Amino acid sequence: MKKLVFSTGAGISAESGIRTFRDSNGLWEEYPVMDVASHTGYLKNPELIHKFYNGLRKKLVDAQPNSAHYAIRDLESMFDVRVITQNVDDLHERAGVSNVLHLHGELMKVRSTKHEERVYTLTPDNLETSLDTRDEYGDPVRPHIVFFEEPVPNFSEGMKLAQQADIFVVIGTSLVVYPAASLIDCVRPGTPIFYIDPNPSNISRPNLTIIKKTASEGMKELTEILKTMQ
Ligand code: APR
Repeated sequence: MKKLVFSTGAGISAESGIRTFRDSNGLWEEYPVMDVASHTGYLKNPELIHKFYNGLRKKLVDAQPNSAHYAIRDLESMFDVRVITQNVDDLHERAGVSNVLHLHGELMKVRSTKHEERVYTLTPDNLETSLDTRDEYGDPVRPHIVFFEEPVPNFSEGMKLAQQADIFVVIGTSLVVYPAASLIDCVRPGTPIFYIDPNPSNISRPNLTIIKKTASEGMKELTEILKTMQ
């Protein structure tokens, strides 16, 4: 089976009711990103960070995968599908996608501040943390999120996947945050690239097809094209 690699951003979850970051009315218009999503912000006011991510988790548990998430899952019958996502939501997983690589962490997970390999998955009935939350070893926990100013540990694995792609698909990202935005340049020469976004960033690459549509509409169109490329 050909390897079909997706690189998704906030736009694929927009139709599930989860706000993007940089669109009008985006999350960063309401919350200064350096206060709620940077290492500096975390050191300065960890309580605000706990509250911010508690709020995002509450919204996430009420959200559902949309038809774009399911369309990616359905392609697993024709391709070896891998999803690299900048999103911290679990909608790809909840749609049944088998292989998801999170570059920027996972909203429903927290980790020990003393032993970062100790990662814990929260549940819908236990999704809030605070400065007083302790893990089973008595250590404080923090969101399992890659804040700005922190390394992106899964990027090298993401690069390998992009290099292995027979077909590469970008969905719903403004392509402004690195290193994630550079994945498109890791594909082998000649690899077909598709970019689904209703307001795509102005990029040009060889073998790039832009589908100027929402994720749900764009995935309908792309699925028909991919059926001819198996
Ligand atoms: N379908 C597809 N794409 C959409 C839709 C939709 N219904 N609605 C909006 N979009 C597109 C926008 O046009 C934009 O290109 O989704 C993209 C969202 O861009 P951003 O808000 O910048 O989100 P993203 O690119 O994922 O941000 C990257 O920045 O803030 C950090 O860590 C955060 O992972 C995030 C990273």
